[in-house]
Amino acid sequence: MAAAFAILTQHVASEIALVDVAEDRLKGEMMDLQHGLSFLRNVRVNASTDYAITAGSRICVITAGARQLEGESRLNLVQRNVDILKHIVPKLVHHSPDTILLVVSNPGKFLTVDILTFVAWKLSGLPKNRVIGSGTNLDSSRFRFLMSERMHIAPSSCHGWIIGEHGDTSVPVWSGVNIAGVKLSDLNPKIGCADDPENFAALHKEVVESAYNIIKYKGYTSWAIGTSVSVLCNAILSNQHSCYAVSTLINGHHGIDKDVFLSLPCVLGENGVNFIVRQNLSDSEKNQLKKSADTMDKVQEGIKW
Ligand code: LAC
Repeated sequence: MAAAFAILTQHVASEIALVDVAEDRLKGEMMDLQHGLSFLRNVRVNASTDYAITAGSRICVITAGARQLEGESRLNLVQRNVDILKHIVPKLVHHSPDTILLVVSNPGKFLTVDILTFVAWKLSGLPKNRVIGSGTNLDSSRFRFLMSERMHIAPSSCHGWIIGEHGDTSVPVWSGVNIAGVKLSDLNPKIGCADDPENFAALHKEVVESAYNIIKYKGYTSWAIGTSVSVLCNAILSNQHSCYAVSTLINGHHGIDKDVFLSLPCVLGENGVNFIVRQNLSDSEKNQLKKSADTMDKVQEGIKW
């Protein structure tokens, strides 16, 4: 709903169709959005438990998922979420065969949006450029905010890319952190290292801990991921060719030779991922990506399709 609200208030879409299994909640959310439309540009907001309402969608945003139960194994959590996507993805593609899937579902540290984006890609039969995960777009935004707090410069003018798997094992690309093109690594060659006098690594640690802290304080995260989804939808719907860190099939990049989805800087347009920007990564950054890829590949091997 945070994503729907952001898409609505940022005038990203002309029509929003909400689908869920919780019929009453769905009706209430639809009405509550509709009643604010006089303050906004006219957008058609509809809702139904029937996927037919999504017919002809240029983007289908998937946020459904199941959280890990107390003591539940990773494999069981993965399979429960695969079974949910088995129910959702084929219907979305049936009603909108030309759609782009944007997967946001992120059950937690043992099952990230990256694995679920791979699952959605396999279930959809769509080409890899049209199945995208929200990935580390949010991690990068958190990093830029924290950088802005330290530098007293607006987050939009602080540049830094977090790539790889969303959450615990995300990878900060320290060589690329810059303001107005001035690389912080030129000023502080130790940036991000254990003996960095400015301890920039603390910023990435805070990024990794963000979701846990917010969940501790309010029970879930919503507004930032909702805004993240809105800007990704806007980039695609308005064919912006702008670049975001999103989860894409990275087989063949940075020495990864497996079918896994991880975040790299991707240029987004009306066809989804136009191309992947090839960053100059350090050996350590490449190794971290590879470690994530190997772990995810093992989890994916255990999926019962
Ligand atoms: C977070 C959720 C989207 O990091 O995983 O806030």
